[in-house]
Amino acid sequence: MKQIFSAIFLFLLIVPFGTVSAKDLEILSIGFGSCLHQDKESPILKTIQAHKYDYFILLGDNIYSDTLIANEKIPAYEKQVNHSEWKTFVKQTQMLFTWDDHDYGINDSGSEYPEKQTSRELFLKYWQPMMPKNLAFGTKSQEGIFYSHWVNLNGKKIHIVVPDTRYFRSPLQKSFVSRLTGKNFYTSSNDLNRTILGDEQWLWLLEEISKPSDFLVFVSSIQVIPTEHPFEKWGNFPHERNRILQTLQNANTKELVILSGDRHIAEIHEYKVPGKRSIVEITSSSLNLPLPFLLLEYDSEWKIGKAFKEKNYGELKLISKDGKIMWKTSIQDLRGESVMEYDPSSLK
Ligand SMILES: [Fe+2]
Repeated sequence: MKQIFSAIFLFLLIVPFGTVSAKDLEILSIGFGSCLHQDKESPILKTIQAHKYDYFILLGDNIYSDTLIANEKIPAYEKQVNHSEWKTFVKQTQMLFTWDDHDYGINDSGSEYPEKQTSRELFLKYWQPMMPKNLAFGTKSQEGIFYSHWVNLNGKKIHIVVPDTRYFRSPLQKSFVSRLTGKNFYTSSNDLNRTILGDEQWLWLLEEISKPSDFLVFVSSIQVIPTEHPFEKWGNFPHERNRILQTLQNANTKELVILSGDRHIAEIHEYKVPGKRSIVEITSSSLNLPLPFLLLEYDSEWKIGKAFKEKNYGELKLISKDGKIMWKTSIQDLRGESVMEYDPSSLK
């Protein structure tokens, strides 16, 4: 009898504390990265896997396949998902995805991409099975892949908002193609009719961001804050950049961070306006396709420190302590060493 009571006591002791559901978490760790070429080895996935992150967000260019015929992307998707590093990685990690130009369509493409519906179907076919159940993607008429996801961190509401910066985006205003980098340079357009998100997605986003949360993770495939570099960025549409920054400043959340990719370098920017909430953006790129020999880094009035130009991934740690969320974000190299960080709660 005594043994039975001991067993019941042990069971009661273990079950409530030993079963970790999202509700019981006190630390939420999110890894993120971008620009993963299917034709290259990806040993960095093994480094990332060792962290056992609760989530990993692929921020776009999850495959490289620039083609006007969306179904021609299938071999690239197949190659990516059949890599042994990939298979082990996604088996152990809860994934979230968005897309950027090279997986969505062709280089720097937007709403003009002719086979965006088919590309959307491929995105959902390959990535949706690895994502949390019950996500709703895009508009009611199944346009775009934007969505949001909630995580309960010890009673605190963490809101991950993932807009689609490709499907509805107006054409860019090209200035020239750089002979040095082979990349297109763009100038910003003051045409207020040009958009990144489009009307319907803006309505969705404003509604999402008005929902109360304790911490908001805003994901953007392209950079939001810096305006100085000539490549793709929200700043190519200054009215859209202003609108998103103002929306984030006034968001119904206690704190927030922007995660972005695309640039083939890693950077941290902080947008500070007196009397307003300051906004931090951490950019991680690339997981396995760094381009350190190209001139990709530009000064910015918002930039903190210098860019990191080798293979990298990002980490966001949220800790629920004494009724508050403490947080820290960093960039790590191939060996898992932190190479830059932003640590507002002094977690160290
Ligand atoms: Fe890329």
